[in-house]
Amino acid sequence: TWTMAGFRDLEIARIRDQVGSGRVICGLSGGVDSSVAAKLIHDAIGDQLTCIFVDPGIMRANEAEEVVKTFRGRFNIRLVHRDASDLFLGALAGVTDPEIKRKTIGRLFVEVFEEEAAKLGGAQFLAQGTLYPDVIESVSFTGGPSVTIKSHHNVGGLPERMNMQLVEPLRELFKDEVRALGRELGIPENIVGRHPFPGPGLAIRIPGAVDREKLDLLRKVDAIYLEEIRNAGLYDAIWQAFAVLLPVRTVGVMGDGRTYDQACALRAVTSTDGMTAEVYPFDFGFLNRVAGRIVNEVRGINRVTYDITSKPPGTIEWE
Ligand code: XMP
Repeated sequence: TWTMAGFRDLEIARIRDQVGSGRVICGLSGGVDSSVAAKLIHDAIGDQLTCIFVDPGIMRANEAEEVVKTFRGRFNIRLVHRDASDLFLGALAGVTDPEIKRKTIGRLFVEVFEEEAAKLGGAQFLAQGTLYPDVIESVSFTGGPSVTIKSHHNVGGLPERMNMQLVEPLRELFKDEVRALGRELGIPENIVGRHPFPGPGLAIRIPGAVDREKLDLLRKVDAIYLEEIRNAGLYDAIWQAFAVLLPVRTVGVMGDGRTYDQACALRAVTSTDGMTAEVYPFDFGFLNRVAGRIVNEVRGINRVTYDITSKPPGTIEWE
């Protein structure tokens, strides 16, 4: 009979067989897929694996620290941590078009990754947390829809250019199976059960130009929202929940004074694959509590709205 432990052992044997005494590098993003791939490969070949974590400066509060703490500190995996926030935010300065944001970020991820890989002296193998739906999707792209709604970036073309062979131990698995495998491998629940997070990160949750100040504001709002969702025991019932910083200032009243600050939107959806999505029906008391905390605790935000658009016609992200 098929078990996850059996699958793990089989994949470990396959990885050892493919890699031999070669060296593997793996781009770590902090998400479920690359985390599970990295841990599995490390279980198979130990220090023949080096992970490269490029911090683009557009992740949520504490995320970068958590990645380093878990993979280097707890799992003892060789990890290069490159803080590339100046580079990314410099390139994003003044960019307002969502597709240009995506392309800029995608290009920089590849450039910085290549730079760090070269510093390591290269490797014969590149590991990726490609899942079965990714395999299907990239196949269907060739004969599929001719309209690209959003260009999802990945490291396409990189292995060929760098003359590396791919190691893709998850390519037969669906997301829920990857999570089960991650638990089998002892990866903590806060990583294995994590909501999907887009590569372009918070940059596509700030309509208009992105800067450090706006990112810091959004991080505070997002952290409060997610904390309340976790405390209410709702995190696992939701596909994705996040805040959006709106490019609009509105008038408010605080104590005896008038405020003229920014507005934010909260979003939460249920979905099985991200292709379609339904709004999560929070009870009003919950939303009221979150809005109260945000306006009271985050200086610079004086208005909170809840996005009640399904997908379609809306997309999950605002950009
Ligand atoms: P949309 O906004 O298209 O999102 O309804 C569907 C799912 O994809 C994620 N998403 C992205 N992921 N790069 C990514 O890696 C991207 O450019 C990107 N855009 C959207 C989104 O978070 C949701 O899970």
